Amino acid sequence: MSKKLFIKTWGCQMNVYDSARMADVLAPLGYRPVDDADGADMVILNTCHIREKAAEKVFSELGRLRTLKDRKAVVEGQRMILAVAGCVAQAEGEEIVARAPYVDIVFGPQTYHTLPEMVARAHRAAGAVLNTEFPAESKFDHLPDEAGIEGATAFLAVQEGCDKFCTFCVVPYTRGAEYSRPAAQVLAEARRLVAAGVRDINLLGQNVNAYHGADADGGTWSLARLIYALAEIDGLERIRYTTSHPRDMGDDLIAAHAAVPQLMPYLHLPIQAGSDRILAAMNRRHTADDYRRLVDKLRTAKPDLALSGDFIVGYPGESDADFAATLRLVQDVGYAQAYSFKYSPRPGTPAAVDDTQVPEDVKSARLSALQQLLDAQQAAFNQGFVGRTVPVLFDRAGKRTGQIQGRSPWMQSVYVQAPERLLGAIVPVRIDSAHTNSLAGTVETGMVTTGTGVHPLSPATMETRA
Ligand code: 5AD
Ligand code: SF4
Repeated sequence: MSKKLFIKTWGCQMNVYDSARMADVLAPLGYRPVDDADGADMVILNTCHIREKAAEKVFSELGRLRTLKDRKAVVEGQRMILAVAGCVAQAEGEEIVARAPYVDIVFGPQTYHTLPEMVARAHRAAGAVLNTEFPAESKFDHLPDEAGIEGATAFLAVQEGCDKFCTFCVVPYTRGAEYSRPAAQVLAEARRLVAAGVRDINLLGQNVNAYHGADADGGTWSLARLIYALAEIDGLERIRYTTSHPRDMGDDLIAAHAAVPQLMPYLHLPIQAGSDRILAAMNRRHTADDYRRLVDKLRTAKPDLALSGDFIVGYPGESDADFAATLRLVQDVGYAQAYSFKYSPRPGTPAAVDDTQVPEDVKSARLSALQQLLDAQQAAFNQGFVGRTVPVLFDRAGKRTGQIQGRSPWMQSVYVQAPERLLGAIVPVRIDSAHTNSLAGTVETGMVTTGTGVHPLSPATMETRA
């Protein structure tokens, strides 16, 4: 009998990927995804611990779910299995069990391949099943092939965890040590995705450019090597990777940006701050000028590369002069888009116990100044596309009726008025107007796309798939 599974996901793309894989693991047990917790047989909260209030959000969601769980018991005489997964579960598993005893299963990011066993134990046992170990074996060796692939774009986890220990970050504690999946495993998964209709793969990892996956000959492959091999897969037209650390941006990877047409001209390369003093305090182990030089090299290899980044304002001890250095760096680099956050002390990280915390109002003022600058850069970047024709891979319905939405090579969200049959196709679109977060355009009927380029329709290019 089919059972209803509801998964709520917070946080990064890795969590989105993990949630999909949890559904794959539970599918053989008869669980089918639904989009409402009400009436579900199992609810999983896949949580994020990277910034503030994460745990509080989880507890308030749990309070709501408890009512649904009780109702299911009374109305249907059935048990709703309630599970908390992800990084909050990893970091605060014991507290969840203590504060919310009606939770049945608590598990971290590295153990979800054992979900069938955990579910069976939950059915047998009265108390909660807590599973936040870091197992010696990789979950990737035990996950089933991905099921129910939908759409033309997909995430593929190639690397996980982090050994960098930036002083503000919980990832090394919640996700564990750096691990790269073997190259053959990644290639096999990519081939399956492409066979199921995927044309754009985003390679995921907390430190994806530190990838060093084992090959069959006892050696290791770099991310660049992996990208060259992926580019050989017929039908895989777009490759991206996220998130990268500046220290792992090897010359071979930079060269791949020039050499591999399928590698999209977009790179998320966080620096966090522009002051060398703060970068050192954060344990980033590079300077702002190292980063500027790296960006120069990347732009020499790929002149139209769109850069994205992450910034933290109000790291402990950050002065006005330090913050001014961040603004200068942003001015110098020029971002196509970026994410910025107020520093949030995370329990268990070195920076949290620093006694030079920056007051909240100073953080807020700095965040809004930085965001103003980043928004202006993003708007200018997008404005530069008005009047140009770009290839767009349509992958979802738009917000309004009759609209569909997709991505440009530079990761911009583009929407047009067009029939849904274009979903999954890469189509030339003339950009009519630009907004901060998206572009609006019109499908060009007299043009075709090849790779990332757009060309006038001619007999020689007629056969190119649109
Ligand atoms: N406070 C604020 N932002 C943080 N990030 C990570 N840890 C913290 C923290 N403690 C941000 C960083 C990172 C992104 C994923 O989240 O910018 O790159
Ligand atoms: Fe966190 Fe730094 Fe590792 Fe990124 S590199 S996951 S910011 S510790």
